[in-house]
Amino acid sequence: MKILIYGAGVLGSYLAHALIRGGNDVTILARGKRINELKNNGIVIRHYFQLKTTIDKVNVISTLQPEDTYDIIFVVMQYQQSQTVLPVISNNKSKNIVFVGNNPNVHSFQDYLNKNSGDQKQVAFGFQASGGRRENGRIITVRAGGSMDIGVLDGELSWSSLIEKAFKNAKYKLNFNDNIDAWLKSHMIFVLVLAYVTHACNGNFRKADRKLANQMVKALDEGYLMLETLGYTITPLNIANFVRTDRHKFLIYLLLKIYSITPFPRLSDPLTMLDETIALTNAFYDLKQKANIPTPNWDALENHISPKKNLIGS
Ligand SMILES: NC(=O)c1ccc[n+]([C@@H]2O[C@H](COP(=O)([O-])OP(=O)(O)OC[C@H]3O[C@@H](n4cnc5c(N)ncnc54)[C@H](OP(=O)(O)O)[C@@H]3O)[C@@H](O)[C@H]2O)c1
Repeated sequence: MKILIYGAGVLGSYLAHALIRGGNDVTILARGKRINELKNNGIVIRHYFQLKTTIDKVNVISTLQPEDTYDIIFVVMQYQQSQTVLPVISNNKSKNIVFVGNNPNVHSFQDYLNKNSGDQKQVAFGFQASGGRRENGRIITVRAGGSMDIGVLDGELSWSSLIEKAFKNAKYKLNFNDNIDAWLKSHMIFVLVLAYVTHACNGNFRKADRKLANQMVKALDEGYLMLETLGYTITPLNIANFVRTDRHKFLIYLLLKIYSITPFPRLSDPLTMLDETIALTNAFYDLKQKANIPTPNWDALENHISPKKNLIGS
């Protein structure tokens, strides 16, 4: 299948690798110095836990013209970045679009495309379970097997067979989700609290003490309560229930300590995602205003973000 990956960062590069290995005709849209990195060297990925490096040759483009048609376009970038490419996507003739990454505003994305696309698009939203960072032109990826939670806003993903076909030989698991909006909003709560805690201890989780761990648990509870007040079902529920249980506080402190000695904080570092953290925090404010409930622990934790430029509530 003819596939475009729009965004050549950490997650987009891994997705492109998986789809190329699955036998698809993959093009990647890059910008800046990443264009030449990809043209000269291909997609170079160090698979951290798998102890291997892969190189994949890929077609590279730097702009998407209205007539460039693909079977599926995956937009894989930070939340605030994917908002900026909506006009380009709506002007393009391709019908099937999947936005991959954090996104607390899926309805506004869908509405924008419904209003502004000449032809009706099929839009899905996904979240790929992998992480990593960029280093000297290569991607260091941390993952188990490749996988993505994916769903649409109006119930069932009627074009799931097309997506399944793309991943058929890709050794990649698709988890179809019938409430992806709630999934992404629940995930945003977790991602933001983790980002605030990272800022609070300046990226060094060894510095995290019990007070910070307790504040983290309370802030998660406030965030989930805010979503529940607005009628969202927290998903996945078992993880949320675990962190919200008072007697698990010490266990969560221990988990934070264990996390500090794993490679994850170093390889998948929220400090490098400050713009997205700020954009997601602003989306949280919008929801909080609607819910109209106090979130004192959340607010205290969020105060650790630095610098606070562009933050609505600062
Ligand atoms: N990295 C992780 O560990 C991780 C883990 C889980 C989830 N996620 C989530 O997954 C999503 C994607 O993250 P990521 O790590 O892949 O981000 P990333 O490494 O920053 O990649 C985004 C890519 O999109 C490019 N881009 C942005 N705007 C563009 C535009 N207008 N035209 C062309 N290219 C554009 C960026 O180019 P520039 O480099 O030039 O800006 C960058 O190459 C985010 O929501 C993130 O929070 C990431």
